[in-house]
Amino acid sequence: MTKFVLIAALGAIASVSAAGLEAVNLRTAGNYAILSKAGISTGATSAITGDIGVSPIAATAITGFSLTADSTNVFATSTQVTGKVYADDYHPPTKSELTVAIGDMQTAYKDAAGRPDPIDLKISGDLGGQTLGPGLYAFFSSVKIPTGLTINGSATDTWIFQMSGDLTMAANTKVTLIGGALASNIVWQVGGYVEVGTGAHMEGILLVKTAAKFLTGSILNGRILAQTAVTLQSSTVTQPATDSGRLLAQTADILV
Ligand SMILES: *[C@@H]1O[C@H](CO)[C@@H](O)[C@H](O)[C@H]1NC(C)=O
Repeated sequence: MTKFVLIAALGAIASVSAAGLEAVNLRTAGNYAILSKAGISTGATSAITGDIGVSPIAATAITGFSLTADSTNVFATSTQVTGKVYADDYHPPTKSELTVAIGDMQTAYKDAAGRPDPIDLKISGDLGGQTLGPGLYAFFSSVKIPTGLTINGSATDTWIFQMSGDLTMAANTKVTLIGGALASNIVWQVGGYVEVGTGAHMEGILLVKTAAKFLTGSILNGRILAQTAVTLQSSTVTQPATDSGRLLAQTADILV
């Protein structure tokens, strides 16, 4: 009984980071591992953990997944998706839920893009080899990750990376989380497109104004919330544990 009371109390403060920078609230967009307005394609077998959805475009814009319609026609399945596949032309309530989720995705993008007072405006558009503590980082440029990037902080810290241009990760580079940092607390607000190179490993929530392209063997621990097309190629996309999952884990720690 005590445990449930504690979970409820933690739930009430879930949207505020202990470190001061408030987390970006994804609302229902946070129910999807991949959400796109223009389509999701995979050129070779990918592995997605979490639901995926497209809206306002129809299911024909989901390609390479060999979809099987559920008998309800509310969702479809794919051997490449551990979760459900949703499209705007599926049966109710799918269309209305997707419309809300797309709106939430765009609200989250605007929230992230509008945060004031970055702790660092001076770092260049090159994050290679850096170790970054929590906070807001802003770039009036594109940003590249040509070598490894380390993100260092606790499970309650928040990172927001704002950029007006594109985010590109070179082949076989990796974003590494240390100190307990969580992918669900890392937001990349990208004014252009995202490209994750062959074999590269990205972490965090990608809020992307245009497209997201994941090259062969790339990995994301996070979410792709893109306003145009998502292109995968033998990619692995795994949604992070939800806030409630994280709170349950923290509660378990507290109770031990
Ligand atoms: C990670 O952050 C902690 C707390 O600020 C700091 O003590 C530690 O040196 C940092 N680790 C690295 C590798 O920068």
